Amino acid sequence: MGSPKKLVAGNWKMNGTKASLVELRAIGAGAGSLSSMVDLAVCPPATLATAAAEALGLDCALGGQDCHWEISGAFTGDVSAEMWADLGAAFVIVGHSERRAMHGETDAIVKAKANAALRAGLTPIVCVGETLEQRDAGRTLAIVSGQVANSLPGDRIGPRVVLAYEPVWAIGTGRTPTTEQVAEVHRAIRSQLRDLAGQAADQVRLLYGGSVKPANAKELMHAGDVDGALVGGASLKAADFLAIATACA
Ligand code: PGA
Repeated sequence: MGSPKKLVAGNWKMNGTKASLVELRAIGAGAGSLSSMVDLAVCPPATLATAAAEALGLDCALGGQDCHWEISGAFTGDVSAEMWADLGAAFVIVGHSERRAMHGETDAIVKAKANAALRAGLTPIVCVGETLEQRDAGRTLAIVSGQVANSLPGDRIGPRVVLAYEPVWAIGTGRTPTTEQVAEVHRAIRSQLRDLAGQAADQVRLLYGGSVKPANAKELMHAGDVDGALVGGASLKAADFLAIATACA
């Protein structure tokens, strides 16, 4: 089996109002000529999801930024994986470092959410990554391999799981790791996935995320064992997001 098709996913975080639908429409319009080469997805805030699904059209998938692990119930403010599926989403991000840091999400919670996504028929984009302190202490590979071991649904490793390596110190900072640093971590993750799941591991798309921009996308995407990008800030502008997707295609 060859390498899986690359995936470029935009994470809008807590950004966007109805006025931003113009950008989503532009992404949807630009996606048509790219979709045979690269899979595209945008994860807008939940408030925009219905309108976003329509604006993005058929060539750019909809994703959620988080989901609860239960199907429904007394969980004020939360959105379940089934609700995202109901809106037509194909993906949901789980375990983003902002959720891990600001909402106290542990690996066990992230794994429960990833399993919920699979239960609902969604593809989870499971995020892992070290802090600067952990990198400086030489603990990057240990931290990331612990997160991979404990946040991924081990028995479901394969094409229905996406993993995003996002060094926390590169998110929203404009700082990016060197291609060697990205390749080192991706190689380590791939080998760990092979130990866990054999050949199916090669079908897991390993995204890089953290300050991906049109100017650095090509270099980062060719770092080695990189199957796409998770893009934050630069995904808010259709032109930038499409330029990144073009660089990945
Ligand atoms: P950034 O965010 O591209 O703005 O650094 C990436 C992310 O948090 O997924």
